[in-house]
Amino acid sequence: MPKLIVVTREGEEREIEGDAGLSVMEVIRDAGIDEILALCGGCCSCATCHVHVDPEFAAKLPKMSEDENDLLDSSADRDATSRLSCQIELTDALDGLKVRIAAED
Ligand code: FES
Repeated sequence: MPKLIVVTREGEEREIEGDAGLSVMEVIRDAGIDEILALCGGCCSCATCHVHVDPEFAAKLPKMSEDENDLLDSSADRDATSRLSCQIELTDALDGLKVRIAAED
């Protein structure tokens, strides 16, 4: 099972594991970390699953869709490392992925 490191808004670092094939959002939510609201359930229409991804993994991430890009534009906390965690599928290649939960908009 790929490992995922999640930094909460308080700066607490948690190491969790999730089944490959689930989205990063689902793995975070299933671990009981409730800072990810994921209001739309993962269909790329709410932006409440916004995270900042460790730049070390940037090249391994799936390409950002136009919809994801537009939604992220609505967030004041957007930067070059921003992604919607429901749009990243956790795979073995992403083992050890580190994400920080973005500020609430
Ligand atoms: S859960 Fe709504 S955009 Fe990701």
